[in-house]
Amino acid sequence: QCAPRSHLLSALLLLRCVIVGNKMATSASATLSKAVKQQYMELSQGDKVQAMYIWIDGTGEGLRCKTRTLDFEPKSIEDLPEWNFDGSSTYQCEGSNSDMYLIPAAMFRDPFRKDPNKLVLCEVLKYNRKPAETNLRLTCSKVMTMVEDQHPWFGMEQEYTILGTDGHPFGWPSNGFPGPQGPYYCGVGADKAYGRDIVEAHYRACLYAGVDICGTNAEVMPAQWEFQVGPCEGINMGDHLWVARFILHRVCEDFGVVASFDPKPITGNWNGAGCHTNFSTKEMREEGGLKAIEDSIEKLGKRHSYHIRSYDPKGGLDNARRLTGHHETSNINEFSAGVANRGASIRIPRNVGQEKKGYFEDRRPSANCDPYSVTEALIRTCLLNEEGDEPTDY
Ligand SMILES: *[C@@H]1O[C@H](CO)[C@@H](O)[C@H](O)[C@H]1NC(C)=O
Repeated sequence: QCAPRSHLLSALLLLRCVIVGNKMATSASATLSKAVKQQYMELSQGDKVQAMYIWIDGTGEGLRCKTRTLDFEPKSIEDLPEWNFDGSSTYQCEGSNSDMYLIPAAMFRDPFRKDPNKLVLCEVLKYNRKPAETNLRLTCSKVMTMVEDQHPWFGMEQEYTILGTDGHPFGWPSNGFPGPQGPYYCGVGADKAYGRDIVEAHYRACLYAGVDICGTNAEVMPAQWEFQVGPCEGINMGDHLWVARFILHRVCEDFGVVASFDPKPITGNWNGAGCHTNFSTKEMREEGGLKAIEDSIEKLGKRHSYHIRSYDPKGGLDNARRLTGHHETSNINEFSAGVANRGASIRIPRNVGQEKKGYFEDRRPSANCDPYSVTEALIRTCLLNEEGDEPTDY
């Protein structure tokens, strides 16, 4: 704590606070010379390929990764070998048997090591080859296969907040708050856009990787940003969003900052972070599709609590901090729908209301949702006509 005595002393102490503050806000590895590293990254790798296997850990939010050398370039997911890891170190062990299997599920180009290296998103199976608790991809892909003839499309808007390693929002004064919300959304300028380097690096890295990223913008709270992924059909939505998140964490690591998907990182008069999800089927996208959209919304209205349970990793507890009915959110306890209404659970975009076809937007998912869980819930309720609080076992 700084306790100034004279003007000079106070200025010196303030300077020291700023320097110490900055030191604490970034990570040690980010300060290593990236130019020296680059020298090694330019070395030839012969005919070997590095494959970085990525998986969701036992928290349902954290990502883990490790790399192996392949002596061929994999052309499709079938070419990739299964692998394993120690689940007792990832909150994933069960009983005395902590061996877990990594089953390659989706492959992307590696924007960090570049071609021919790969990022490999994996499903996790337990020692008995049953899905790990946080492997929500398996049931999602099952449900997606059941409705594939309806060509379900999704688009997800991932909001996130950039933090220092001390957990304080990036660029915020260390002992206070920036000016109130207003100038930051889609803002430009050093006093409005906090951390654009990260956004630019992430966007390009996603394009290189083959992630269907379709846009980005600065959000309402300073240091908060959004990227959009889609349209993606079926299981691809979850795969692409998880890999986009992995790339964001990895880019932030290079810059010495942290990406947070907490749905309400700062309490008070600051916007939370969601993961608005656009959804449509072939029928909804065709002439007169508004009828199918309205039918789906009616079904969703009868199953609000099931969806709230599926829309954050703590079964609604995380979202309870965000869905207050203020700051462009709906109230967590009430279902609502409306054309161009940002305070509703479900929003029908204005142009969709006019053209009478298109898609709708579910604004309830939390920024830290599992996209497999969100897209699966939408399919179960809207297309498989499930009712009640529990999902059906197929
Ligand atoms: C979702 O729909 C909104 C309009 O309602 C649009 O602005 C946004 O780009 C769409 N996002 C995705 C990821 O499809």
